[in-house]
Amino acid sequence: MTTDEKLNDPAFFATNEHYALFDHLRQHDPVRWTESPDGRGYWSVFRHADIKHILNEPALFSSERGGVMPVIDDAMGAIALEAMGVGENVLTIDPPRHGEIRKVMAAPFLPKALADGEARTKTLIGEIFDQLPAHGEIDLVSELAVQIPMAVICDILKLPREDWAALLGWGKMAIGGTDPEYQQGSAAETVSGGFRQLYEYSLQRSSERRGCPFSDPLTALVNATVNAQPLTPSQIAHNGVQLMLAGFETTRNAFSGGVLALLQHPDQMALLRADPKGLRLAVEEIVRWSDPVISLMRIATADTVIGQQSVRAGDRVLLWFPSANRDADVFEKPYTFDVTRHPNLHLGFGAGPHFCLGGSLAKIEIRLAMEALMERYDGIEIIGEVSRVQSSFVGGLKHLPVKLIPHAGGRRKAIAS
Ligand code: HEM
Repeated sequence: MTTDEKLNDPAFFATNEHYALFDHLRQHDPVRWTESPDGRGYWSVFRHADIKHILNEPALFSSERGGVMPVIDDAMGAIALEAMGVGENVLTIDPPRHGEIRKVMAAPFLPKALADGEARTKTLIGEIFDQLPAHGEIDLVSELAVQIPMAVICDILKLPREDWAALLGWGKMAIGGTDPEYQQGSAAETVSGGFRQLYEYSLQRSSERRGCPFSDPLTALVNATVNAQPLTPSQIAHNGVQLMLAGFETTRNAFSGGVLALLQHPDQMALLRADPKGLRLAVEEIVRWSDPVISLMRIATADTVIGQQSVRAGDRVLLWFPSANRDADVFEKPYTFDVTRHPNLHLGFGAGPHFCLGGSLAKIEIRLAMEALMERYDGIEIIGEVSRVQSSFVGGLKHLPVKLIPHAGGRRKAIAS
């Protein structure tokens, strides 16, 4: 396979071989013109400094002109703008309008609200652990990593437990539609079907809230006015979808990727077992290491320069986050998983105006879930094949079959891998 074919192939990112390719390209071709199946091509950007620059320059690199999903083939291109609600969903609106929409739904994700809600988050996570089978043999992805953020975001959005299964199915289609295991029809049909069903659901749930006194973000979107205008039903529904998907499709990958990393680095697990306070710092390394977001797109709005490379107005630019997060210009020993790494300037949550709205929530969830895992279990053994989702957009573990060994009589041992 040529380099361009690899970058264009979602299956390549399930192999973990992308890290070695990115190392090479950061050194030798850091802003690379990449031919794509739709014949339009795009710039691939690999260096931390260049990616950070682009994220901080939304006037030069738009999220609104083409959305942020890496769309490089015609079938996906035909559905992507509408499916994601580009121009309506906060993720795909450029400043200054972006800030006005973001403010409407930000309240539950601000530090004070998160601190007030931490006990509730801990209870929700505890309930998921309580439901695990006593024999301890589980797929850690589907039975823990997926359930935890689902419970938390549905609690924040006031969505009922009985909707989780449907939401999860649509989320897999919308975000993981390039993976054959999740496909219903072609990749583009799957992605579009997932987004459409999430949109219908969000539209229905939000319209029920009109005039309600609730303080959740869906109700806030329904009751909001921006520049003296209410939001349209479509704007409300697309932002609802964004909160749902961002709430459960990324954190699951960070948590499951973090567990796998700790199993592969028992010395780091031992450090955290000895001093669980270290988890506050460790969550940053877990996000850097697990790289839930693989690539995001921007469109250049004017002729400009990235690093040494000139790019033209209208060019597509793809930002490769796992590459930024292993850049030796920024991270000492980038391939060492070090839960005490500080500072940790990873770009896992992005940068600039679109910096992840739920980043602090995600870190709380990961910390509390890791704490619960270590408190409840002495040992975790991998008992089957570990696999990754085939996606170059949002990726991570698809299956992590493990046996959890409960810890006996208040005693703690190092976790065995
Ligand atoms: C480990 C988990 C997570 C990761 C790695 C992550 C990553 C990201 C990244 C990279 C962006 C920037 C996108 C861009 O620049 O185009 C983003 C934006 C966003 N994230 Fe997260 N996210 C996570 C969890 C969450 C959670 C739990 C929520 C809760 C609802 C959330 C809500 C959002 C929203 C609403 C945006 C759009 C912000 C804006 O455009 O202003 N994320 N996220």
